Amino acid sequence: MNCQVCLEDAGEEAYHPRCARDLFGTKAAPVVEVDLGKLHTLALAMVGHTSLSGVQRKISLGLSADRATLQLAVDGGRYLLKPQASTYPNLPENEHATMQLARLFEIEIPQCGLVTLLDGSLAYLVRRFDRLAEGGKFAQEDFCQLAGQSPRAKYQGSAELCARLVRRYASEPTIALLHLFRRLVFVWWTGNGDMHLKNFALLTGADGIVRLSPAYDLLCTRLAIPDDQLALPIGGKRDRLRRASFLELAAHMRLPARAAERVLAEVGRTLERAVALVQRSFLPAEAQADYVSLLRTRATALAAD
Ligand SMILES: Nc1ncnc2c1ncn2[C@@H]1O[C@H](COP(=O)(O)OP(=O)(O)OP(=O)(O)O)[C@@H](O)[C@H]1O
Ligand SMILES: [Mg+2]
Ligand SMILES: [Zn+2]
Repeated sequence: MNCQVCLEDAGEEAYHPRCARDLFGTKAAPVVEVDLGKLHTLALAMVGHTSLSGVQRKISLGLSADRATLQLAVDGGRYLLKPQASTYPNLPENEHATMQLARLFEIEIPQCGLVTLLDGSLAYLVRRFDRLAEGGKFAQEDFCQLAGQSPRAKYQGSAELCARLVRRYASEPTIALLHLFRRLVFVWWTGNGDMHLKNFALLTGADGIVRLSPAYDLLCTRLAIPDDQLALPIGGKRDRLRRASFLELAAHMRLPARAAERVLAEVGRTLERAVALVQRSFLPAEAQADYVSLLRTRATALAAD
């Protein structure tokens, strides 16, 4: 079996002990006390108790004191759980594979993995990156808030708007802009048409430094919607982007051309490992094949004009 955290072979186990420790803080995975059938009712009951918004159903979970179970947490949950959705198949497997791809591409991600619910279905579990050990919260502001727009206007923006917000609000703008550029390349490469303004955020660390938050909500929406385009345009374009589009974006962001070229070259260098990772993922074979073909096509478009 492949590990439900790192996707490498884990023999008979669902998780490597090390991977279970990273995600759960225990050698063995806890039982996830969530029943998909009852979940809708739970999600409804939690409206008003959580600051999370979004279309896909997600619930807040916390570990029991003995760390043997993960349970519904109304306040202070350290995990978010996104179960199978009725709208599109395999979203948890898709998000998990894409988050692991992001890690491969040296994008910072929170600890995450797939867990098996009581009904046997797989759900995506991610550790919150905005919680302090003492129970407090780090300040986090998404780009919709930073732009002073209502959450309903989350699709009204562009890559250039994101860059302006980062330049204005990040403590170390050049570093944060380079991270943003890498994210935008990755979002295009992985066919993600849902990176809207609420899917980027700045996080104030314990050191008081305002940085781009770890990545979240990454997935290949083109597996579900084959012609899906970018949520936020780059140079006015939502589709058919090429290497030149990203070099122009980098110039607009006032990033050194060499730094941008290095990120683009990494796509090519990472491609075969990315393909192998998708093939070890929990996506069904057909979705894996679609994902691999997209990664190959777009890596080519990013490599040359
Ligand atoms: N690991 C995390 N730690 C802290 N906050 C998180 C984490 N993951 C997501 N969030 C916050 O929760 C919000 C909802 O999460 P996410 O974007 O994954 O859900 P979603 O339902 O797919 O959202 P949408 O469909 O609106 O894009 C995010 O906008 C972000 O503010
Ligand atoms: Mg989101
Ligand atoms: Zn592992």
